[in-house]
Amino acid sequence: MKVAFAKPGTGAPGAVAVGIYQGLQQTAAARQLDRKTSGALSRALSASRFRGEVGDILAVAAPHGLKSRSVVLVGLGKMTAFDGLAAERVAGALVAYILPSGETDLAIEVDAPKGSKLDDATFAAHLANGVRLRAYRFDKHRATEKPDAKPRLAHLAVHTADPAGARRRYAPLASTTESALLIRDLVSEPGNVIYPVSFAAQAKTLSALGLKVEVLGPARLRKLGLNAMLGVGQGSSNEPQLVVLHWQGAGPRGGAPIAFVGKGVTFDTGGISIKPADRMEEMKYDMAGAGAVLGAMRALAARRARVNAVGVCAMVENMPGENAQRPGDVVRSMSGQTIEVIDTDAEGRLVLSDAFYYAYFRLKPRAIIDLATLTGSVIVALGHEYGGLFAADDKLADKLLAAGAASGEKLLRLPLTDHYTDLIKSDIADWKNDGGRWCDAINGAMLLKQFVGNTPWAHLDIAGMAWTKQDRPTIPKGATGYGVRLLDRLVADSFESK
Ligand code: BES
Ligand code: MN
Ligand code: ZN
Repeated sequence: MKVAFAKPGTGAPGAVAVGIYQGLQQTAAARQLDRKTSGALSRALSASRFRGEVGDILAVAAPHGLKSRSVVLVGLGKMTAFDGLAAERVAGALVAYILPSGETDLAIEVDAPKGSKLDDATFAAHLANGVRLRAYRFDKHRATEKPDAKPRLAHLAVHTADPAGARRRYAPLASTTESALLIRDLVSEPGNVIYPVSFAAQAKTLSALGLKVEVLGPARLRKLGLNAMLGVGQGSSNEPQLVVLHWQGAGPRGGAPIAFVGKGVTFDTGGISIKPADRMEEMKYDMAGAGAVLGAMRALAARRARVNAVGVCAMVENMPGENAQRPGDVVRSMSGQTIEVIDTDAEGRLVLSDAFYYAYFRLKPRAIIDLATLTGSVIVALGHEYGGLFAADDKLADKLLAAGAASGEKLLRLPLTDHYTDLIKSDIADWKNDGGRWCDAINGAMLLKQFVGNTPWAHLDIAGMAWTKQDRPTIPKGATGYGVRLLDRLVADSFESK
């Protein structure tokens, strides 16, 4: 998709979109088109249920007096409640209408809402960003779909009083979005395409952006003693890989890095504690935490962020092969602590325990933040609105909550107090990987807590956020790319030297 910013009155051959506020208050651009079409827009409005709420769309085909193929009226909701994320949602609703219509050329006429804090340029930039987020489609495996049957937006023009300012505002948004969309691709890929070695190969391509990419294979992992991670992978013929990405944006004197650690189970069958067949195919997205880490590292490198950061992606496939670990096995983690594997399907916490200790011990980070599709339990608690945030460090938790609100990738904090420790004590080892029926998201987090030493740490259980079965305003159904914008925002607001 080509995205261009230009002054109003530039003309639009395809669809031209204008905003209407709640209560059918027209924007200046809408009024102008209404005049040019001798009131066609007002007449169409009065004959419809369009109320100007966010998500409301009314298309008027080929109105007399205009060269455009159509005018699309877009509900903007309340004028005063408008912010960048609202602009993206509005753009998303517009794209959802345009894509299946066959129109490939869209122009948006921008009027910054009066009364809101958004200026024209920022509004225009977020509209364009929203269009890109929603126009995403994972169609590389649709081998026989005719090109002209593919919904496709070829050109987007955003008409604004301040095109130069809009371009400036758009560049950083677009850069982060590109990383998020790449990660949607990786998470969408099935398990026969993305497995630990192919994920590592993808990571290596990021060295072109200045990231240093290290890949540790099974021999190294054995030597270092990441046995909890290796135990999960031993039932698969796809060997585990620990992918470590280094970004030195603050230079050698920039201090200890912030570490992002991602659960990268490229497919989770459950292992010997095998999952039911129904919907098991979804478990290809069990590497979305690692995907988010990769995407965030890419985003930081792409914008040359002034921060030292490392990303650790712990990649394994959880399969019930003949060499698979058994329920009841005891593994000795890199930290020296032992874990009894009650349930081979609670594999994420095993993999992460070693990835954490590796990060803590080898990289000495100033903080560790992990992202993991760790538990079904967090979906029971929070659904698909908030990622679960667990943190031993209140300051870090508050920074994450703020970044979540600002990026639209929301978090809600859940408890992580020592009251829960007894649930994960094993009868024959130090810990067990299953704390019983209740509060599994907390039990999982409590186990992870044992492997970060005294490093400030936060755990994001994103099982409910990595994938959506329904279209959302800025996310078509499928992989969401959740976490990329969140971490990028966190770094920009709290960890970057100015
Ligand atoms: N990858 C799953 C968690 C998950 C579930 C992610 C649904 C996304 C959607 C995880 O490895 C798992 O299987 N967890 C078990 C833990 C249980 C066996 C203690 C679960 O949630 O049932
Ligand atoms: Mn599992
Ligand atoms: Zn899993």
